[in-house]
Amino acid sequence: MHYKDIDWNRLWQEARRRKSWKKKGRSDWDRRAPGFAKRNIDSSYAERFLQLVKPEPHWRVLDIGSGPGTLALPLAARVQAVTALDFSAAMLAELESRAARQGITNITAIQASWTDDWRQLGIAEHEVVISSRSLSVVDLKSALEKMHGWATEKVFIADRVGSGPFDPELFAAVGRPFEPGPDFIFTVNLLYQLGIHPKIDYIEIDQNKTFATREDAVESCRWMLDELTPAEEAGLAAYVDERLEQSDAGTYTLRRSSRVKWALLSWEKRTV
Ligand SMILES: C[S@@+](CC[C@H](N)C(=O)[O-])C[C@H]1O[C@@H](n2cnc3c(N)ncnc32)[C@H](O)[C@@H]1O
Repeated sequence: MHYKDIDWNRLWQEARRRKSWKKKGRSDWDRRAPGFAKRNIDSSYAERFLQLVKPEPHWRVLDIGSGPGTLALPLAARVQAVTALDFSAAMLAELESRAARQGITNITAIQASWTDDWRQLGIAEHEVVISSRSLSVVDLKSALEKMHGWATEKVFIADRVGSGPFDPELFAAVGRPFEPGPDFIFTVNLLYQLGIHPKIDYIEIDQNKTFATREDAVESCRWMLDELTPAEEAGLAAYVDERLEQSDAGTYTLRRSSRVKWALLSWEKRTV
């Protein structure tokens, strides 16, 4: 067997098919937009991402799968302009209302998909192209080539390491098999085959979170699982109760045993 004969695009597609949860379409992301925004805006993930990316004032950034502006909003204050691209109208509505409240005027939101014809949509090249936790594509090779093609200086991709934000212990608690799908190592190998040798940094997040009520803690885990049966609901409740600590102030802290890890892949256009 030769390394060059490994079809990473195909391995990626097969690993995606084995994932424990169903593929999320536009309407799934629309439905999840308010909850996702609440959990992710002002997160330590965004802070760490920006520390590693070191934004420069002259950059125009194309943020693919921007979501509610987890990165587009803090980036806007530090770069010339941001184009936020997402196929979910509800995600972009979250982003636009936050931008308006914060007086941010240099973000252009475009409702479009990874696979749309960006030239036809008038999306120009940008100094920097990013995809943060949004590499949800069937054709990984085309997506990577597209990012590379649209950047004039740098590309950044934040991709899951192993289970990423999912807690395998929650799946065990509700009695479901856990198969997280492909992670960053597929992307690194495919980039290598494209002649791109990315720098790899890691972002590790402490997942302990504090809530006003036990119910809020239960709700905060629900996004990881599609519809639950009554027996699975009981498993979710048991999972939370085993990890919940009540403080003297009456708040509840949910302690996960594993930290969440992301890989930040980056490369410079000029040196490739
Ligand atoms: C996990 S969220 C990440 C949001 C943000 N980049 C972050 O790091 O917090 C994934 C985002 O990708 C978007 N998305 C998923 N598939 C997409 C596609 N095919 N085309 C465009 N956007 C997509 C979703 O609507 C969602 O907003």
